[in-house]
Amino acid sequence: MEPIRIGLLGCGTIGGGVVKLWRRNRQMLARKLGVPVELAGVAELELKRTRALGLSASLVTREAAALVARPEIDIVIELLGGYEPARSLILKALEAGKDVVTANKALLAEHGEAIFQAADRAGRSVGFEASVGGGVPIIRTLREGLAGDRQRAVYGIVNGTCNFILSTMSEHDVEFRDALADAQRAGLAEANPALDVEGHDAAHKLCLLVALAFGCTLKPAQVYTEGITRITQADIAYARELGFAMKLLAIAKDDDGRIEARVHPTMVPLGHPLASVGGAFNAIYIHGEALGSTMYFGLGAGEMPTATAVMADVLQIARERLAAREGAIVRAHAQGYPIRWLKPARVKPMQDVVCEYYLRFMAPDKPGVLGAIASVLGRNAISIASVIQKGRGAERTVPVIMRTHEARERNLKRALAEIHRRGMTGTAPAFIRIEERL
Ligand SMILES: NC(=O)c1ccc[n+]([C@@H]2O[C@H](COP(=O)([O-])OP(=O)(O)OC[C@H]3O[C@@H](n4cnc5c(N)ncnc54)[C@H](OP(=O)(O)O)[C@@H]3O)[C@@H](O)[C@H]2O)c1
Repeated sequence: MEPIRIGLLGCGTIGGGVVKLWRRNRQMLARKLGVPVELAGVAELELKRTRALGLSASLVTREAAALVARPEIDIVIELLGGYEPARSLILKALEAGKDVVTANKALLAEHGEAIFQAADRAGRSVGFEASVGGGVPIIRTLREGLAGDRQRAVYGIVNGTCNFILSTMSEHDVEFRDALADAQRAGLAEANPALDVEGHDAAHKLCLLVALAFGCTLKPAQVYTEGITRITQADIAYARELGFAMKLLAIAKDDDGRIEARVHPTMVPLGHPLASVGGAFNAIYIHGEALGSTMYFGLGAGEMPTATAVMADVLQIARERLAAREGAIVRAHAQGYPIRWLKPARVKPMQDVVCEYYLRFMAPDKPGVLGAIASVLGRNAISIASVIQKGRGAERTVPVIMRTHEARERNLKRALAEIHRRGMTGTAPAFIRIEERL
């Protein structure tokens, strides 16, 4: 029987994992499919990586475009990362009648529409399970398991690096800088961690979740994005005192056709399942109109978890190709990306978002300050739910922690700007959004 032939672009962390998983499971894959899956070629610039994996030199090339052009290859697995040449190579592969599997969320968030349209035109598939949640099969879940329902809200812990840092800060009472160094030592954060800790990676993933959950196209620039670099250990401790855990959440809600899409540090009730997701784990909590709430949990990155998602896409696409060989009419519809259903998202401006807030002021320790702050908040339609004022120390300012009732972001920002402008607090007030009813 003719095998299914795969061509692998990039043999770094995830590409290396795919090679290992393919070797470990190739007999099982052949039994599942009825034909072998053959690794027909690998494109990699750093040849010591392919040598370390024991790949024979005849299998390896530095010329990714030449590998994509080889007529016998059925499925191209793009694991190079970045925008170019990944985008052009994927388009070339689709034009040449090959299917594609990728883990490249940054590329799909920015250029996904064009890629999926090209796949649709070519009648080919683009599998992208590995692009969100690593080993957590959230793309399949939204596309298939939840497809009959209307989704109302998605809350994702989708960046394991940030979750590891916030968990470390919480469990070991350390500041961001030390927790980041721990993450780097554990191989969970890049030397330049900006994409993760500034929230951009989570925003890329949110764009893909929004497309699948709500049928809307959204660009990363339309997602309000705030990272975790300003979170202090004290904020995490006060959050706990108020009954909350600190998480970087990617949040999307369908508010009567207007899409709320935001990534920011969020306080979630300690009793909520998302609060107990620690370390480098990911979880996606989805609220469906008919189903109610479900949560999907697992390792969101790393070579083997992500490789399993890549391999699942390879198997699914291989089945489609085999069905086509047997004469079945298979049109892939871009591997379930809702290309026909999609419309541009009508994004709700961040200023209109309503939620509860945690506020931290460093206030001079003298009478009347608390009253003055409360009065500015009141004038801006922000009512206070509770206050924690820490005891007097030697310092001239003391932390005042407030939790508000639901308020509009526009009002909150205006009030905090006035409080700061009028010099009521030592440093700029800090605020963190609370999701109480998720
Ligand atoms: N790492 C994770 O946990 C994870 C999880 C989910 C998704 N992903 C996604 O998976 C993709 C791959 O990530 P990764 O962590 O495996 O990255 P990586 O370790 O940097 O691997 C990429 C590999 O591709 C090689 N490469 C780059 N350009 C090339 C070209 N033109 N021709 C041939 N080889 C080329 C790189 O070689 P050089 O180093 O010499 O450039 C490197 O070995 C990315 O899109 C990433 O966002 C990663």
